[in-house]
Amino acid sequence: MNKFFATTPIYYVNDAPHIGHTYTTVAADVITRFYKQKGYDARLLTGTDEHGAKIAEAAAKHGKAPQEYADEISEKFKTAWDSLNIDYARFIRTTDEDHVKTAREFFQKLYDKGAIDPKPRLYKGLYCVGHEKFMSKEELVDGLCPDHQTKPVEHSEENYYFKLSGYKKDLEQLISSDEIKIRPQSRKNEILGKLKTGLEDISISRASMEWGIPLPFDKGHTAYVWIEALINYYTYGSQENLWPADLHLMAKDILWFHALIWPAILLAIGEKLPKEIFAHGFFTINGQKMSKTIGNVISPSQLIEKYGVDGTRYLLLAAFPFGEDGDFSWEELDKLYNANLANGLGNLVARVAKLAEKVNFEVTQTTEIFDPLVEEKLTEFKFNEALATIWQDIAALDKKINEIQPWKLEETKLKEFLSSSAIKIRSIALSLTPFMPETAEKILKQFSDQIKSGSPLFPRK
Ligand code: MSP
Repeated sequence: MNKFFATTPIYYVNDAPHIGHTYTTVAADVITRFYKQKGYDARLLTGTDEHGAKIAEAAAKHGKAPQEYADEISEKFKTAWDSLNIDYARFIRTTDEDHVKTAREFFQKLYDKGAIDPKPRLYKGLYCVGHEKFMSKEELVDGLCPDHQTKPVEHSEENYYFKLSGYKKDLEQLISSDEIKIRPQSRKNEILGKLKTGLEDISISRASMEWGIPLPFDKGHTAYVWIEALINYYTYGSQENLWPADLHLMAKDILWFHALIWPAILLAIGEKLPKEIFAHGFFTINGQKMSKTIGNVISPSQLIEKYGVDGTRYLLLAAFPFGEDGDFSWEELDKLYNANLANGLGNLVARVAKLAEKVNFEVTQTTEIFDPLVEEKLTEFKFNEALATIWQDIAALDKKINEIQPWKLEETKLKEFLSSSAIKIRSIALSLTPFMPETAEKILKQFSDQIKSGSPLFPRK
């Protein structure tokens, strides 16, 4: 059996999930469900990133121990993904015992292979806790991290170094040849461009950070949280015989870690490399970055309450092209919902079901097909185009009904028309399955045997 192993980033547990995290997770779920539907052994790994300064500080602010706080927030992510029907194979936490063990072994291997300098040396830099990374002076704006509006911490301590600089040539070759496929193409070019300017060795341990995994070869240091977090993919993948990953999905903010540091440390221990890394865009709300200070953070449950589970899944991926930056507003979402779900799909299904019910129409032929164009779009991560393709089919059938006016046809002709319409509706439902699994199932059920009218799929807003 072919396998398909996809991952989402593991999310920081400093705060509850918002629709940024939801966006990536839903997309990863749709892709994984699509491969499952094609007969692959497809697995999705998601979870939470729980060690390091960012989490320790958030816990302290809430007067809690890091583990207790991490337990609480991690549970919120898991609940959110469950409520969104995310079909993950494992929800991994970096505090899970098996991950801690794998991470320690991984660091030991790096050390034994000579990829880590044998002795720590002084590292000085400006550390942004929000990003959990060092920032160069050029990246700061008026001395502040432009993403978090915070002043980075001056850091000066003995750290172990990973010899990243030695992997420049290999990485250039692997990325330009698509052995590690980085997509969209523009991001690949960006990474190759950055690579040209050179790679510096990186610090991979902390001497003063207790909330982390102690290095196996020096208990006085903990593993740098980013390296430790990346290893989560390997913890699950190697355990389940799924390594290498077929797809790491994330937004562009963390592509650098996935496209360069992660392959380099895998090369260092002689492991296989991920096949594809896809970085999508960042979205804003009414043109503004989502932030607590602005007070415009939207939680997944707010969307679910308003649009339902499948409505939410649909809206997130239909609103703008995946890969590019985009913007959400409640007005836009309402509009899309009403036009495409309440009308569009919902209306079409109700219309045909009503006609069929009147004449006791029974479905005998079930020759639905998954639209090959939808398949093509999905393999290219063009979610909104895949959906637009399905909605073209919906519009085409709607138009046909308006033209033919089947309610005026005599019964045999009407039944012929219903028969072909039912196949089309079943095909639409089949192609919709990875996106809207519950809705698709409902439609397929309704359009098998004797068709009956049901309650509206998507009540109008
Ligand atoms: N813990 C690290 C990832 C480690 S992976 C080994 C981390 N966590 S995070 O909680 O900050 O999640 C970042 C990811 O959340 C982004 O890469 C993206 O997938 C998603 N998004 C968060 N906000 C988003 C938007 N506003 N728009 C699009 N995606 C967003 O980084």
